[in-house]
Amino acid sequence: MRENQNLNAPHNPSAKQNAHSNTAHAPTHLIDSKNLTPEYTAKLIETAKRIIQSPSDFSDSCRQKIMATLFYEPSTRTRLSFESAMLGLGGNVIGFSQSSSSSAAKGESVADTIRVINSYADICVIRHFKEGAAKVAADFSNIPVINAGDGGHQHPTQTLTDLFTISQEKRRLENLTVGFCGDLKFGRTVHSLVETMSFYNGNRFILISPDELKLPEHIKDDLTKRASRFCETADLTAAMPELDILYMTRVQKERFFNEEDYVRLKDTYILDNQKLQNAKRDLAILHPLPRVNEIAAEVDSDSRALYFKQVEYGRYIRMALILDLLSKQGAN
Ligand code: CP
Repeated sequence: MRENQNLNAPHNPSAKQNAHSNTAHAPTHLIDSKNLTPEYTAKLIETAKRIIQSPSDFSDSCRQKIMATLFYEPSTRTRLSFESAMLGLGGNVIGFSQSSSSSAAKGESVADTIRVINSYADICVIRHFKEGAAKVAADFSNIPVINAGDGGHQHPTQTLTDLFTISQEKRRLENLTVGFCGDLKFGRTVHSLVETMSFYNGNRFILISPDELKLPEHIKDDLTKRASRFCETADLTAAMPELDILYMTRVQKERFFNEEDYVRLKDTYILDNQKLQNAKRDLAILHPLPRVNEIAAEVDSDSRALYFKQVEYGRYIRMALILDLLSKQGAN
C-alpha cells in the first residue's frame, strides 16, 4: 500500500488550476522551513507568548472554525498538540490518525483527499510518509495546509517548537553553538531546524553522527551557500564542552531499508549523566521526541533537560500558527 500510493492520481493536469479557479488569492500554507524567516518566526513567538500570558483572550478566536488532521503516519505530540491548540482557540477538530481508517486504504490520492477536506474544514494539518506529500496537498487546496512531517524531508512546526523553546530558555536565537546528534540523514526535524537556525547570525553547528547517518549533502550545500559555520564529527564526548544546545535525535527505524543496519546503528549515542560531565552548566538538551534509548532516563531530572518543556511550548506556537494562517485566509 505504502509503495503504491499515488499522491496525485487520478492524473489530471488541469486539476491543479481547477483547485484555485474560484479564489482570488491562493491560501498561505506552511510546507517548508524555508518559509520560517526570522521575521515570521518572531511574529509567531510574540503571539505564542501573549497566549501563554492570557489564554482566555484567545479562547474564542477560532469559534466555528474546523481543523482537519490527516495523519498517514503515527504521531503523539504533533497531532495531539495541534488538536489541543485548536480546541484551546475555541475551534473544532476532525480527522484521522492512521491511513488505514481513511479512504487512502482504498487507493484515494492525497490530491483527491485534500479536495474533499476543503468542503469540511477551514485549515488542514497533514503528516505523510512520502516526501513532498504536504506540498501536493497544498497545491490542490483552497484552505491553508500545514506540513506536520513529510517522510524524511521536513517538519517545520517542530522547528517552530524548537525555536520557541530556544528563545524562551536561552533568550536568543543567535550566536549559539548547536550540536545535532544521532540520525542526521533521516531526521526531518534536524533538516528543518539546521536550515532555519542558519538564518540567524553567529550560529555554529556541530553535526555529530556515524558516517552512515550524516546530514544529506544538499543541506550541507545550502549551509555553505549561506556561509554558515559547521563541522562533522562522530565524537559526542569531544564536542560536548562547546555546546550551548544539544539536539538529540532518535535513529529513524521506519526510514531504514535494512533491519540489520538499524540494529547496528540504533544505540550509537546514549546520553547519560557521565557524558554530561564536561557540558556547560547552561546547556539546553532538546529532543523532538519520541526517544528510544538515546537519552538515559537519569538525564530527565537534570535541569538542562528541556525536552518535556519543549512539548509544552509546541502547543502554544501551533496556536499562534493556526491563528496566523486563518487570519490570512479570512483576508482573502
Ligand atoms: N516530534 C514529533 O513529531 O513527535 P510525534 O511523532 O509524536 O508527533
